[in-house]
Amino acid sequence: MGFHSKYQVFLVCVLLLPALCLSQFTDSRATFYSTSDGSGTPTGACGFGDYGRTENSGRVAGVSDALWRGGAGCGACYQVRCKDTQLCSTDGVTIAATDMGSGDRTDFVMSLNGFLRLGVNSAASEQLRKNGTVDIQYRRVPCAFDGSNVKIKIHENSRFPDYLAIAVIYVPRPNDVVSVQISNNNGGNWSPLGRSFGAVFDLANAPSGPFKVRVQFRGSQTWVESPNNVIPANWNVGAIYDSGIHA
Ligand SMILES: *[C@@H]1O[C@H](CO)[C@@H](O)[C@H](O)[C@H]1NC(C)=O
Repeated sequence: MGFHSKYQVFLVCVLLLPALCLSQFTDSRATFYSTSDGSGTPTGACGFGDYGRTENSGRVAGVSDALWRGGAGCGACYQVRCKDTQLCSTDGVTIAATDMGSGDRTDFVMSLNGFLRLGVNSAASEQLRKNGTVDIQYRRVPCAFDGSNVKIKIHENSRFPDYLAIAVIYVPRPNDVVSVQISNNNGGNWSPLGRSFGAVFDLANAPSGPFKVRVQFRGSQTWVESPNNVIPANWNVGAIYDSGIHA
């Protein structure tokens, strides 16, 4: 997208008609992957761990490079509907991106819990599954399955107290988190984290907590700050924290 079209999208989406942004579907293709229970994989490239297996009722997907966006597309939610008028339900399914992956010209490699909701009924979904790859349309939508605040997880790579790695596991707003900082001084002395991989941001030689957290969304210079400390001084690997950031 060139400068002008991006600017136009911004004008239409942010200033004029937010609802219109949700009406733009993109044509693509989708396939699926299998796990023992139809949910996601805990080893997805976003670094969500087990959260990525069960989130959104296990309706998750690996996404193409275009939607991966260097990891910034992790956690993004998409409404995906297939196009065959006989077989496909009108609304399709909302899935969350937890992994990177593509099949034959696909943008989504969906968990079966997600993929099997594309059909009007289970017989139709079974036919879609037999087809392997289906023609779809998708659009970015807000995530609405885990509340209205950004959630973070202390990633398993972390080593208390020096090396802090945080996965941004849930962002309700349909926009990418591109930067993360922490403050152990109630909003002073912000320390920038770098993107390690997927949705994981890290910091070597971390100061001692507790920490406030703030995030920046794509296309905005503004920081959105947690109202209170989010990460306790004695932070635990694997713990999930509600940031209080309503976004
Ligand atoms: C089944 O796969 C074929 C070949 O990729 C494709 O042309 C067709 O549209 C697919 N069916 C559906 C329902 O998407």
